[in-house]
Amino acid sequence: MMNERVVLVTGAGTGMGRATVRLLAKKGFDVIAATRKAENFADVDDENIRVFELDITDPDSVKKIFEKIERLDILVNNAGYGLVCTVEDMDEAEMLAQFNVNVFGLLRVTKHAILPMRKNGGGVIINISSFLGKIGLPLLTFYNATKYAVEGITDSLRYELSDFGIRVHSVMPGFFDTQFARSNLVMNQKTFSEDSPYSSMVSRLAPQIVDQINNGNDPNDVAELIYRIIEDESFPARVTVGDKASKFIPMRKELSDEDFERRVRDYYGL
Ligand SMILES: NC(=O)c1ccc[n+]([C@@H]2O[C@H](COP(=O)([O-])OP(=O)(O)OC[C@H]3O[C@@H](n4cnc5c(N)ncnc54)[C@H](OP(=O)(O)O)[C@@H]3O)[C@@H](O)[C@H]2O)c1
Repeated sequence: MMNERVVLVTGAGTGMGRATVRLLAKKGFDVIAATRKAENFADVDDENIRVFELDITDPDSVKKIFEKIERLDILVNNAGYGLVCTVEDMDEAEMLAQFNVNVFGLLRVTKHAILPMRKNGGGVIINISSFLGKIGLPLLTFYNATKYAVEGITDSLRYELSDFGIRVHSVMPGFFDTQFARSNLVMNQKTFSEDSPYSSMVSRLAPQIVDQINNGNDPNDVAELIYRIIEDESFPARVTVGDKASKFIPMRKELSDEDFERRVRDYYGL
């Protein structure tokens, strides 16, 4: 056990996080599954998996988990959820909570992960962003803003940490069949009310997005990709995974902003 590389995965309870925990444990890593709900692992009996309670919105909870970790080689910043809300309907608490998990939570965990990696002479930080970290969509402005922020964090940290042998990467998934749309989309009440001036847009777009997520790619593909990033020292800074990301991200690069917007409008009937 002592010489095995230690990996910490946040948001480990379901979806991509859980798939990553399982795959890396199978590959022989010492995996710390960090979750708000340890009961999600009640059925898992694997000597390579240690389940630690973690609430990334609570600085003390983050500090405490790192008091228990002596060595860390890899951090997978995976925890995240989506707020579906127009900007006009913005609710202060919902907005702050969205950033507190997807951006500030990621930064809190990363802060503490750096020291053990520096002491170790290196490490790998993998941020699970989204293809919506490079592409905007209506009703998802707050989520988009958090994922655009994650992209910026990856870019800055690559400079800040490279002298210490710490690699930083962004993974930009398209739509994946996880608990994301089933339990972790927060729908703002006003935006989803029948008399909302946005009701036509909501009724056209929201069911398409939910449907595309629930019928999306297999989260095991993300786990496989994370394993490849860990093992390949020359892996690119950012990578897409899944059908929608592989379709829209190259298109986003090739087309002008306006031409890309027209394609997205046509695609979603906006
Ligand atoms: N599914 C998609 O289509 C898709 C597409 C692009 C990007 N992503 C991103 O991929 C990552 C993983 O999502 P997933 O698709 O695997 O969805 P998921 O099954 O919903 O898993 C997300 C995990 O994040 C944690 N989480 C959710 N809400 C939270 C909250 N309010 N506070 C703290 N932690 C919370 C939970 O972990 P615990 O309960 O274990 O603490 C949860 O298991 C997220 O960052 C998401 O934004 C997903």
